Amino acid sequence: MSLPLPSTYAPTALPPLPSGFAEGLKDVVLPDPLGFGKLMAPVMAIAHYRDGSWETPRLAELGPLDLAPHTQALHYGQAIFEGMKAYRNLGADGGPPLLFRPYEHARRFNRSALRLGMPEIDEQVFVRALEELVAVLEPFVPARRGQSLYLRPTMFGATADLSVVPSTEFCFVVLATPSDAFFTTPVSAWIERHYSRAGAGGTGCVKAAGNYAASFAAAAPLRENGFHQLLWLDAVEHRYLEEFTAMNVFVRRGDLLYTPPLSDTILAGITRDSLLALGPSLGLKMEERPVDIHELTDAIRAGEDVEVFGCGTGAVVAPVELIGDETGMRLPLPSQATALELRERLLDIQHGTTGAPDGWQHTVAPLTDGPQA
Ligand SMILES: Cc1ncc(COP(=O)(O)O)c(C=O)c1O
Repeated sequence: MSLPLPSTYAPTALPPLPSGFAEGLKDVVLPDPLGFGKLMAPVMAIAHYRDGSWETPRLAELGPLDLAPHTQALHYGQAIFEGMKAYRNLGADGGPPLLFRPYEHARRFNRSALRLGMPEIDEQVFVRALEELVAVLEPFVPARRGQSLYLRPTMFGATADLSVVPSTEFCFVVLATPSDAFFTTPVSAWIERHYSRAGAGGTGCVKAAGNYAASFAAAAPLRENGFHQLLWLDAVEHRYLEEFTAMNVFVRRGDLLYTPPLSDTILAGITRDSLLALGPSLGLKMEERPVDIHELTDAIRAGEDVEVFGCGTGAVVAPVELIGDETGMRLPLPSQATALELRERLLDIQHGTTGAPDGWQHTVAPLTDGPQA
């Protein structure tokens, strides 16, 4: 018997959507509640990169991917993703769903790709794939304010090879999941005193899949203590606020609203950038500056007018009502007005009920000649 030692592996091409498939989705009735990230829409966009170029993304029925067990991404984590949303247009004239700042997401996706030694994907192609997916899945864009069709573009090294070298083949997939608003009530923040999320020169400033896996063990004490979110400190002194696991952080003291400056350990959140732009319209002075945890907790203890909140695509804006840590520190934060107001301003823009800067409200063009095969 000859030994079966396959060295190459070609993922099977998925068939295009059967004709009439999109038509059949029109009558879908979405459950209530939807939750977040549990219910997957039945279509995905997919493209492979081989021989130095990307094929055009096309739509396929959601289904298992045909992967070898020695696929590179499973072992060495050459995998990145984006998180973005299509919102129901709730403006006076209605209209097709809206994507929020999709080109910013495309650019960040490419920054992540480059950092992990992966090929960039043309921004127009990236956005077009999302548009086609959302157009077919229009009935899955939920109707209520705050709900959305959450979109998950992802790319992973698809070469089947256990040597520690970058993949030469890649898979780009966009998944969609109709979702409720992430947090409907204020969250509690657990200050992480030991572990670090990211170090200088690492991958903290991009959306590398492994960044999130690295947070899971640290999150155990948080859950045991009934807290929601890990708030990370810098890896050198464990003194300066960095961000939450999947949100940037803002602090308001009086009329000053500030957030840590971007660095190679902090993700350049698109919501963060949007809030920096919107803050002044609320009469706030905006600053990007380091936030010392001692200074922050002292101010809260002194009864100053302090607010802390997280922001990100999933949560939009999440007010923090309690800060705690392993020493037993428990600091309630009664004030949440700024966070709630910013959240409403952003939702107005995302749902098209108010105007916005160029590129923030991207209308998904309806399908004209059916989904691309
Ligand atoms: C680590 C991290 N920070 C911040 C954010 C917020 O970024 P954005 O506002 O672009 O969703 C996210 C979510 O993508 C994240 O994963």
